[in-house]
Amino acid sequence: MIGIDKLGCYVPKTVLPLTTLAHARGVDPDKYTQGIGQKEMAMVSHNEDVVTMACEAAHTILSDEDKALIDMVLFATETGLDYSKAASIYALDVLGLPASTRAIELKQACYASTGAMFLAMDYVRSHPTKKVLVLSSDIAWYGFESAGEVTQGAGAIAMLISMNPRLGAIKEGKKTVRNEKDFYRPLYSKVPVVDGKLSIECYQDMLKEVQDHHPRLYTCFHLPFANMAKKANQVMTHPMDEQHLSVVKELGSRVGNIYNGSLYLSLLSVLMHAKEDLRGETIGMFAYGSGAMAEFFTITLKEDYKSGLNMESLKAIDQDRIELSMHEYESLMNHYENKEYSASLDLSTYVKPYQTFVLDRATSGHRTYKKLK
Ligand code: COA
Repeated sequence: MIGIDKLGCYVPKTVLPLTTLAHARGVDPDKYTQGIGQKEMAMVSHNEDVVTMACEAAHTILSDEDKALIDMVLFATETGLDYSKAASIYALDVLGLPASTRAIELKQACYASTGAMFLAMDYVRSHPTKKVLVLSSDIAWYGFESAGEVTQGAGAIAMLISMNPRLGAIKEGKKTVRNEKDFYRPLYSKVPVVDGKLSIECYQDMLKEVQDHHPRLYTCFHLPFANMAKKANQVMTHPMDEQHLSVVKELGSRVGNIYNGSLYLSLLSVLMHAKEDLRGETIGMFAYGSGAMAEFFTITLKEDYKSGLNMESLKAIDQDRIELSMHEYESLMNHYENKEYSASLDLSTYVKPYQTFVLDRATSGHRTYKKLK
């Protein structure tokens, strides 16, 4: 049996309430909070990037014993730092993983994390004593006053893939790929080109095609915004009721879009907020990455699935959040854009007490990270 041994998450502490954004943009706040379903969106702070977020997520779950068994690190992102060098090399170094590890970065919009997970499972099948660390880390940035501004967010998921997993066994389902132009980010652009309505159509069509038609207590979805769960549920042969649907999207509504990690954030939402005893339960999982690739699979939770989670760190996602004003949000995201396109950086003055990993500086475009604790 192969699957997810441990699952960890990191979300930046700095958040923009969607009512603040609505007032600034002259939009009825109900459109964002009721229509789109988002309460807040997490924004990266000055010295965070996809590497620091991935390391924070991994740090919450990895023991020294796990680290010694990791043979490969797959880093799924659509917020790449470099055309050549994989973000996994930075992450591997900062996390102190063995030098004999394979380190690769993967891309296919928000689907790469799931693709990486299935590649990791195949690797573990042929190397049964080894573990693979799959990191998903993204910053969803669409630009000020864009249609997608309300569906931004940032965060990371870390998954440890192994034989005899603690959390749950993964069972492959059906997958499909099509050439679509719903969302992509060409080399000339700092932000994605998005046709949101087409993307919802592609998502629903592909979900219809790959779903397995079994009734289930919960199906988790890739959620670019919380109410995508409602639209996904509408095309399911056996839709969930309102109460179960709200459990699937609760965490996403507080975090926003984290691209590759979104589906796994939805799974964590169920694991944290479900009222039922989930031991032995099979949960449906729908992965979607624009462009477009979709896959349906299931996870069957182990009796002791909670031993694969760090509940303290998951509860901390909701605690001590720092609400940004509109001015702070604008200045933070201007800083973010400048940072991503600067060859030299010194961010050493921005350290916050809650951070374990920070981006300290960049020299000739090469990033230097620090582990603080
Ligand atoms: N009160 C309550 N609800 C309201 C409202 C109000 N005053 N005004 C509008 N709404 C509802 C609409 O009825 C609609 O609900 P529905 O979808 O259930 O019909 C919802 O709010 C959104 O309104 P809409 O007019 O469709 O919003 P929009 O044109 O601004 O587009 C997105 C919304 C999500 C399509 C857009 O933000 C987007 O493209 N985001 C990017 C998504 C993405 O990244 N996709 C690719 C990755 S999978």
